[in-house]
Amino acid sequence: MKILVTGGAGYIGSVATVELIAAGHEVVVADNLYQGHRAAVHPDAAFVNVDLRDEPAVKQLFVDHTGIDAVMHFASYTLVGESMQNPAKYLRDNTVAGVNLIDAAVHAGVERFIVSSTANLFEEPETMPIEPENKVVPGSPYGESKHILERTLHWYERIYGIKYACLRYFNAAGGTPNRGEDHTPELHLIPVVLQVALGQRDQITLFGGDYPTRDGTCVRDYVHIVDLASAHILALDGIARLGSRKYNLGNGDGFTNLEVVQAARRITGHAIPCTIGERRPGDPAILIASAAKIRAELGWVPRYPTIDDIIGSAWEWHRTHPHGYRS
Ligand SMILES: NC(=O)c1ccc[n+]([C@@H]2O[C@H](COP(=O)([O-])OP(=O)(O)OC[C@H]3O[C@@H](n4cnc5c(N)ncnc54)[C@H](O)[C@@H]3O)[C@@H](O)[C@H]2O)c1
Repeated sequence: MKILVTGGAGYIGSVATVELIAAGHEVVVADNLYQGHRAAVHPDAAFVNVDLRDEPAVKQLFVDHTGIDAVMHFASYTLVGESMQNPAKYLRDNTVAGVNLIDAAVHAGVERFIVSSTANLFEEPETMPIEPENKVVPGSPYGESKHILERTLHWYERIYGIKYACLRYFNAAGGTPNRGEDHTPELHLIPVVLQVALGQRDQITLFGGDYPTRDGTCVRDYVHIVDLASAHILALDGIARLGSRKYNLGNGDGFTNLEVVQAARRITGHAIPCTIGERRPGDPAILIASAAKIRAELGWVPRYPTIDDIIGSAWEWHRTHPHGYRS
């Protein structure tokens, strides 16, 4: 199939592009390089530098690249905290970009659409692990922007018949030998911990040590980016067979922040000094995904389920690319 991957110069989209090409698909990457890296784009993918907020440019993309069968939409502003400081950047820009893309795709005859969604849809989880059918209560303007795109797809299916999948990732993590996490600023726990091991930071401060968890630090569910890519590829066929779907993606096994630091110490051999700071407002104690639905319906099985697999692969990338794609 011919697949448009937006955000394909970014962390998860670049690895999805590699996996799609390995599976025999033709890929067009669209990214404005706001956070992405040209060097992260697979050399066999066509690359279009386009800002998805620019509606005529998005329409032109489908004119220049005819015959696109499916869209995987990774491109987005992605920071929960920033969205609480600058809600318009999320509620306006993420949604304008997404609606431009969905609308242009439908009018170009695209029949399948997969959107990257988030655990931040579930500020008040009804179950733990969190099932995809839990009530959606976005935890921030970022989460709300993803919810709006999920609802937009609902209406575009009803009106135009497009089939879609909403894949709600919990914490994406890990790396491959040639691709990994390289964000500015870097706010995700695992790369920040590994920056201490690289000597780029003196220490790590964890947010809160008095949560009702096994060691007092927050529990989060990590899923490897290669496993996220395989979920996208399975969803491509899945929605054609089963109809539109919403899936939560995680390992169903949470790790505390302190367990992440301990695993990183084990893997890197570095002492990684760590202190416990204040809680961060809005951080729930535990967030774990139930991926039972995608496992049962699509046969998704993570290849890298353990924290050692995930941090080990991330360390391999950071150790060999200490300055990311500029290394
Ligand atoms: N990383 C995580 O833990 C995580 C968790 C849940 C959901 N997600 C979602 O997964 C997707 C990918 O996340 P990531 O970590 O790879 O982020 P990323 O920032 O590395 O990648 C996003 C890419 O989108 C591009 N982009 C942003 N706005 C654009 C625009 N208007 N036009 C064109 N390109 C634009 C950026 O340049 C970047 O390359 C995002 O939608 C994010 O919200 C990520």
